[in-house]
Amino acid sequence: MQKEKITAVKGMNDLLPENSGDWQYVECVLRNIATLYGYREIRTPMMEKTALFKQSIGDQTDIVEKEMYTFLDAGKEQITLRPEATASTVRACNQHGLLHNQQQRLWYMGPMFRRERPQRGRYRQFHQFGIEAFGWSGPELDAEVLLFAARIWRELGLQDITLQLNTLGNDETRTNYRNALYQYLLAYEQELDQDSQRRLHTNPLRILDSKSEQTQQIVANAPQLEAFLTAESTAHFSKLCDLLSQQNIQFSVNRRLVRGLDYYTSTVFEWVTDKLGAQATVCGGGRYDKLVATRGGSDCPAVGFAIGLERLIELAQLTSGELQPKQADVYVIAIGQEQQEMAVKISETLRDLSLSVIYHGQAGKLQSQLKRADKSGARIAIIIGEQEQANHSVQIKQLRRQTDDVEVSQLQLEHWFNNEYLK
Ligand code: HAM
Repeated sequence: MQKEKITAVKGMNDLLPENSGDWQYVECVLRNIATLYGYREIRTPMMEKTALFKQSIGDQTDIVEKEMYTFLDAGKEQITLRPEATASTVRACNQHGLLHNQQQRLWYMGPMFRRERPQRGRYRQFHQFGIEAFGWSGPELDAEVLLFAARIWRELGLQDITLQLNTLGNDETRTNYRNALYQYLLAYEQELDQDSQRRLHTNPLRILDSKSEQTQQIVANAPQLEAFLTAESTAHFSKLCDLLSQQNIQFSVNRRLVRGLDYYTSTVFEWVTDKLGAQATVCGGGRYDKLVATRGGSDCPAVGFAIGLERLIELAQLTSGELQPKQADVYVIAIGQEQQEMAVKISETLRDLSLSVIYHGQAGKLQSQLKRADKSGARIAIIIGEQEQANHSVQIKQLRRQTDDVEVSQLQLEHWFNNEYLK
């Protein structure tokens, strides 16, 4: 009986070797930029108690209502695979007293889980790189996290990515605005799309970024949040806009941008591209000045963002082709069985010189080994046959330019690499 092949869970992808080099390259760029800005890594568990996400992200959000992977652990405790990491980071900071009279700049990277309908750029297991800055309330830190993101785009050569910015104001603003919006939309309840009809009574602000055209027509004449902003919120937002302009960061103010998580206060933003189809948001974030306190910590303003790595890397690949040359320096070929031991030894010696070395791994015809060497992308092949073994030497063949092979004594190999290879 033929056994059925078990495949991966829908919406959860393998990262294959042909792509993992690009991922490692981007991950390395992100870590380096985090260091430039003085952010330190935090790693939190992949699962948390369900209540954490419900209370942090909000009961009425799409994530909590429909997308969480939740199960009963041994029939006792409700556990959820993390759909995002801001809630977990706040939980960890509060639990370990990291915000007690302290400020923190933190970053994280890893898989997140949302049970959405999979499509290009939208997966059930996806990866985020995120940063969170705790303890600063001024617009300078909003600017810092946006400059951090802009530096990532520059470093990866991305141009087709634009910043949309908005402010949600403070609690009072949002309460007043929510009431005004509710009253206005109530008159059109029957004409709203289904999702919006449901949200009207729970989270009317989310109706502002509804994708339905008819709903958008209704929303076009709705009261504007801007009219409800306090002088303080307006000043914070306009200072942020100034700071960005001074740093030549272009942005557009999108008054309809509210974001899908309930913890935001004041500044919210998204970096979007028109190169990735429907899933256009590469990075989203904003301020969440109340979350730390409502999760049991002290009063602590905070701002951050998360980037979807699948989207970022696809965009970078579309822009630059191959992100990093995945080439070895040297391919080591030993023709007969008797020369294999020497090949192992020489490979190790060259790795001691920080060269990336691929050893063919077994005896074989020179021509077929050379073909593999060529395919590997290595610049040089080192060939060891009977004669080289007898002479305690190797043949060095340039694979990427036309020059004669040279025979180099094994004792001189290090010298040759230091003086000839790098030229
Ligand atoms: P978010 O907007 O839910 O924000 O997610 C941030 C980014 O993660 C999105 O812009 C997108 O690039 C990526 N993403 C989200 N869902 C998926 C998916 N199903 N498949 C692929 N990529 C996805 C947050 O998660 C907040 N925690 C961001 C934040 C940090 N705000 C403040 N600090």
